Amino acid sequence: MALKNPAQDLQELADAVGDLQKNILEVVYEPDARKTLRSFSLREAARWIGVSVPTLRALCAEHGLGAENGRSGSRGGLLLTAEEMATLRKQAAAAAAAGGRKRRLLPGRVEGETVQVVASMIFKGGTGKTTLAVHFAQYLALRGYRVLVLDLDPQASATTLFGLNPAAEVEDDATFYGVVGGQRTMAEIVRPTYWPGLDLVPANLALALTDFEIAGRAKLEPRPIHLYLRDALRDVKENYDVVLLDCRPDLGMTTLNALLAATGIFVPVTMSQLDIASMGEFFRFSSFLLEQLPQFGLGEEGIGLDFVKLVINRFDPTQAAQAQCHHWLLARMPDWVLRTPMLQTAALGHANAQWQTLYEYEPDEGRRRAYNRALEAFDRLCFDLESTLWQAWGRKGSPHALPSASTLTRGGAHD
Ligand SMILES: Nc1ncnc2c1ncn2[C@@H]1O[C@H](COP(=O)(O)OP(=O)(O)O)[C@@H](O)[C@H]1O
Ligand SMILES: [Mg+2]
Repeated sequence: MALKNPAQDLQELADAVGDLQKNILEVVYEPDARKTLRSFSLREAARWIGVSVPTLRALCAEHGLGAENGRSGSRGGLLLTAEEMATLRKQAAAAAAAGGRKRRLLPGRVEGETVQVVASMIFKGGTGKTTLAVHFAQYLALRGYRVLVLDLDPQASATTLFGLNPAAEVEDDATFYGVVGGQRTMAEIVRPTYWPGLDLVPANLALALTDFEIAGRAKLEPRPIHLYLRDALRDVKENYDVVLLDCRPDLGMTTLNALLAATGIFVPVTMSQLDIASMGEFFRFSSFLLEQLPQFGLGEEGIGLDFVKLVINRFDPTQAAQAQCHHWLLARMPDWVLRTPMLQTAALGHANAQWQTLYEYEPDEGRRRAYNRALEAFDRLCFDLESTLWQAWGRKGSPHALPSASTLTRGGAHD
């Protein structure tokens, strides 16, 4: 039996889902329906800042920072907010002599180093673009970089992970769509998040219209259709060390704009036959698009890409076929493949169930070991991504090594 009024029915469905989402937000983020960031143990904070636990404890005492962990049932010790961690990082850096150590404590850009605009991109959905972009953004913030995440996908997964309801809390023109239409500037739509040092340009469904908007404008104004994003970023990007673009799963105008705005691209793929085929098509089509650009007045010299890296996702080293594929890719094109793959992990599902990332999630004791293994794998991955940025900046040496996540449990109670 045909639906009598499909448009109205679908609208009703949309409203019901919107109510459900609102409900979930209220339950998950109670009491005030706002997402917040948990505090970090002294051990965690020392690990992220790059100092020893005793040094950090002394700094906390000196500056009167940190609060005793008063939560019942949890382990004792000092707890620090992310804001306090940022302050302590500066204090630790101020005490360090100039040089490599200072640079590792305050790893952000210095004069002469340009902002890295990194796109998480491939035209297939579900390969881990958002997971990669959001985890890397939070990792970078914990390491002391200033980061902007730009959600370019109308599905708005990154926006949702940052605790916003795209339908209810993001106006249509407060997205890249509004920038293309000329209603807003990028600077006007950047919002702070509950993560210090990490800002967000959110998305909502209106972004789905961006490609039509760009195509429509091409007839009215002489503006190059592929440079909206690059131009719009010009007035905000200097506030950051890294801008991450979470792209939509296609190669339309918005994604073309991301390609032209990017200084680097991470392409998350799984080692499934379909993904590999899709990846090949992605590179073929990207290459075709770039070849067309001179027609629009932009030569290849206008493309400022420092790197393109495949990031193998949902990797399971016990699957011989996957391990072989990874090995083959590394042997055949070592410069194009990130050495550390993103492991398939159930911990991501547990964190997602609470609308959190691995860098936000705090497991109960029963899950801590499995969680630490997942965290360790993501840390290694993000360290590799961070090292790629250091190379792009032309830095010698590498970022400070992050102690293993297993050190977080050793020793236990009174950090
Ligand atoms: N390595 C992984 N292990 C387990 N689940 C994963 C992994 N990577 C992604 N996922 C899950 O797969 C789903 C799709 O990932 P997502 O990052 O949203 O993909 P995309 O942005 O490419 O569409 C999400 O539910 C995410 O939590
Ligand atoms: Mg996504």
